[in-house]
Amino acid sequence: MGLLAIIGGSGFTSLPSLTLLESKPVETPYGATSAPVTRGRLAEREVLFLPRHGPSHHLPPHRINYRANLWALRDSGAERVIGLAAVGGITPDFGPGVLAVPDQVIDYTHGREHTIHDGISGGVDHIDLTEPYCESLRQALIEACTRVGEVAIAQGTYGATQGPRLETAAEIRRYERDGCDMVGMTGMPETSLARELGLCYASLAFVVNWAAGKSGSIITMKEIEENLALCVDRVLAVLETIAVT
Ligand code: HPA
Repeated sequence: MGLLAIIGGSGFTSLPSLTLLESKPVETPYGATSAPVTRGRLAEREVLFLPRHGPSHHLPPHRINYRANLWALRDSGAERVIGLAAVGGITPDFGPGVLAVPDQVIDYTHGREHTIHDGISGGVDHIDLTEPYCESLRQALIEACTRVGEVAIAQGTYGATQGPRLETAAEIRRYERDGCDMVGMTGMPETSLARELGLCYASLAFVVNWAAGKSGSIITMKEIEENLALCVDRVLAVLETIAVT
């Protein structure tokens, strides 16, 4: 199995159970990564870790340098990448506390540097994204969930929104009509860049709120943070299990 990298999102600016081996800045053709790339041991297996919002969670979703992050992980030897994703739940099964391994994505983001095939540095190319996630890593995540006693939803469509604001109820109704089960702000262009760079990428999503208009009340950061806190140890257990597979 190739070297595994974990991209931490909200709630995961660090991995508490990671034993640090090295942390170093990586230069990329696209500028600075969100943070130095950390090399460490998770459950006795060497992994890479990068918090996409930065070490102090200072980068909003639209200002993350996704190209630099993915490039740096590959340059550091990563072959497989797990993107952690706090999401809002849209369809009835995707309530707060649910873990899910999405199998499809719809991109509603705009204005982000979203490709390495920009016609400047690498010429024109068109990658296939029919199945946007790496199926072997998706299955490994689903199995790891089962092994730690979690019943993860094994598929679902992730809607990637621009943020940093949350959505209107009408936007969420539209995303639901489009087929989205969950909504988050960082899944794209992270997913497609990983494919462009030849990385095996999958996402482990955890629901931290009902999306706008789905619960009868407005969404508060307090609610999101409380649900996030309930997911952290469960997600860590899955990562520790997958690190040894
Ligand atoms: N919308 C978009 N992104 C999110 C949400 C949401 O409701 N919750 C967590 N990330």
